[in-house]
Amino acid sequence: MVTAFVEGWDFVQILGEGAYGEVKLAVNNETQEAVAVKIINLDRASTAEDNIRKEVCVHRMLTHERIIKFYGFRKDGRVQYLFLEYATGGELFDRIEPDVGMPQLDAQKYFKQLVSGVDYLHSRGVTHRDLKPENLLLDDDDNLKISDFGLATVFRHQGKERLLERCCGTVPYVAPEVFSRRPYHAVPADLWSCAIILVALLAGELPWDEPTYGCREYCDWKDCKITLSPWKKIDNLALSLLRRMLVENSSKRSTIEQIKKHQWFNKSFHRRKGFGRFSPSSPSNSPTGTGPFKRHCSRYESSLASSPGTVSCSQPEPRHRTDRQTDPASPVSDELGQLMSFSQPVQADNMLLCSQMQGTPGSSQTPMQKLVRRMTRFFVTTDRDDTIREMNKVFDTLGYTFKKNSPNMLTMSTTDKRNMPLVFKASLMEMGENLLVDFRLSKGDGLEFKRRFIRIKEGMKSVVSKVPPMWPLLPSR
Ligand code: ADE
Repeated sequence: MVTAFVEGWDFVQILGEGAYGEVKLAVNNETQEAVAVKIINLDRASTAEDNIRKEVCVHRMLTHERIIKFYGFRKDGRVQYLFLEYATGGELFDRIEPDVGMPQLDAQKYFKQLVSGVDYLHSRGVTHRDLKPENLLLDDDDNLKISDFGLATVFRHQGKERLLERCCGTVPYVAPEVFSRRPYHAVPADLWSCAIILVALLAGELPWDEPTYGCREYCDWKDCKITLSPWKKIDNLALSLLRRMLVENSSKRSTIEQIKKHQWFNKSFHRRKGFGRFSPSSPSNSPTGTGPFKRHCSRYESSLASSPGTVSCSQPEPRHRTDRQTDPASPVSDELGQLMSFSQPVQADNMLLCSQMQGTPGSSQTPMQKLVRRMTRFFVTTDRDDTIREMNKVFDTLGYTFKKNSPNMLTMSTTDKRNMPLVFKASLMEMGENLLVDFRLSKGDGLEFKRRFIRIKEGMKSVVSKVPPMWPLLPSR
């Protein structure tokens, strides 16, 4: 389960997957330091090498508390590694309760942090072009960090702005002018995506599939039919901000200065008594998590096709750029990479045991302990073979096609309500005496994946541990 890739560092977990490859967590087996490593197989797409060069070139320009830090990169044969700050709190996406959202206090905090990060990006002449909750990560203290600069580009250089032409991003978050086939300004297009994110935070659903006249929900918004969902779930002050941000004419859309002056942005919200930091958004403990999520907060990955004007609706596409005008990146001096030389596999499973889950605050947990906080996973009382037998039964009942990739991994394939592929993986991890079943989305709609997870967990309830295991505490090395 744990593999070494460079001396003293082990890949312990996949953090995310996308069209480019994977992001893995690497942990130093001496110090327990953690970094996220984005791994790109350059043979996957003909444009991969240029795209990565551009991602590095843009990301390395950025230093800000709201932006995931870029540590460096290295190449090994046809595999490219990018070393990034590890955001221990996972994706903002996981804090959104389907159909509900989150308390305004939390939504406002994340939105303010998002605006601050986007403001910084724009001040550096950079546009992200794929802002969505899946690309907003959280640190140990629940502070937001913008990640994934795979589609980012420079729109202003030496004070001179260039208009963009490329149609890219994730359809429900993309501004109308991006579809127009005409050159558009980068800044208002990013701010439109911020507004869609705010709707997702406040209502737990997205307002439309795409902002075009063929989409009824978009026309309803333009016609001010705000008695419908998601608008009816959002209070008037927040709605008034959204009214100014989701303006079709990009020159009339609120600027960051105007957003920052808006009353909702500046209002003091208070936590309601009896409510925790978050409403229980975990799909594993929230009954409402099963509710219908009409327009999905989806994990469409760069779902707009590469050539301007052609739109594909939801599946990962190889990233391909047409409007990149920055110089190609020269090799980055890669501090971390130099520290890491390839070595013999290191057995680091014992790290799994160096943890005591219960009662340890987030900031004091080791990366391993933090991993266990993720929501789409459960411990089972059965051994590996019985667990796989039980999973096979449940998948059969639910009508999922599945295959065993390795003794410890199954891949399930199905389709969602829109008939788009939904693929996820279940890994079995032995953690001391306990067996953890971890589910991860590979392809498709993230909220639908959460709903399916709840069904699987329900189907397997006879073997799901009711009490989280106590963790043996080994002296740390
Ligand atoms: N998933 C993708 N990138 C990540 C990062 N830098 N930290 C944590 N999880 C991630």
